[in-house]
Amino acid sequence: MNTVVAAFHTLGGEIRSLKEQLIVKERLAALGEVSAGIAHEFRNSMSVIVGYARLLLKDLDETDQRREVVQGIVGEVEEMNRVMEELLKFSDRPIDKMDIDITKTIRDVVKGMGDATQKIDFSFSRPVTVRGDEVLLRQAIKNLLQNAVDAGERVWINIEKESLTGRDGLFVIVKDNGRGIPKEDLNKIFMPFYTTKKRGTGIGLPLVQKIAMGHNGNISVKSREGRGSTFRLFLPAGE
Ligand SMILES: Nc1ncnc2c1ncn2[C@@H]1O[C@H](COP(=O)(O)OP(=O)(O)OP(=O)(O)O)[C@@H](O)[C@H]1O
Ligand SMILES: [Mg+2]
Repeated sequence: MNTVVAAFHTLGGEIRSLKEQLIVKERLAALGEVSAGIAHEFRNSMSVIVGYARLLLKDLDETDQRREVVQGIVGEVEEMNRVMEELLKFSDRPIDKMDIDITKTIRDVVKGMGDATQKIDFSFSRPVTVRGDEVLLRQAIKNLLQNAVDAGERVWINIEKESLTGRDGLFVIVKDNGRGIPKEDLNKIFMPFYTTKKRGTGIGLPLVQKIAMGHNGNISVKSREGRGSTFRLFLPAGE
């Protein structure tokens, strides 16, 4: 277990060199394999547990106080299943890139955020074409928005064209006015399973990082404690 933890350690922080990129890619691939393996092993057992629990429920009449206990078991196993589903997103499927209108993709994701939608400001409206895997980009944007919504009262998402640094492409920028991230934690937030939330799995940002790299892009963050955070997802043009 220690070697696994040590191996994931390098995932934190911003990735600068190609060598670092390679290390992160290998770690994420390893995480994909490990999770697929674990999910496979656990899934059967979990459905057996739920099956038995449901059998028990049948025998308890409506007023029986033990129903709550058994329902608790079912609920917790379902929660484990949810985490498994998240983990499985790491197992590799080929990236399927096509021309997509990222403005529309963002609009759709924002609409699908439930009650949180009203916290989010997305005023950009011109269509912008990018080459990418729509399902994965949705996932990445949704995770960034969910984190921002969890952290702040207000969230802004925007698109910026980029050509100054010599690499054509665009930034999807997600900004919140939340509590920010302490400096000493900035290198931890991209590590798998790092979470400060009660019901978090710590898989959101590693997944965003994996998706960014799959598109030859990157993800970076700037944050000030008490002021808020800004995540910038770079997607290169025409790849
Ligand atoms: N916008 C943000 N503001 C403040 N802290 C953040 C923000 N985004 C991420 N974090 C910190 O980084 C941690 C890891 O984020 P990540 O998305 O990987 O996992 P999570 O949100 O905790 O769980 P989940 O797997 O459900 O996404 C969070 O628990 C939080 O502490
Ligand atoms: Mg998250």
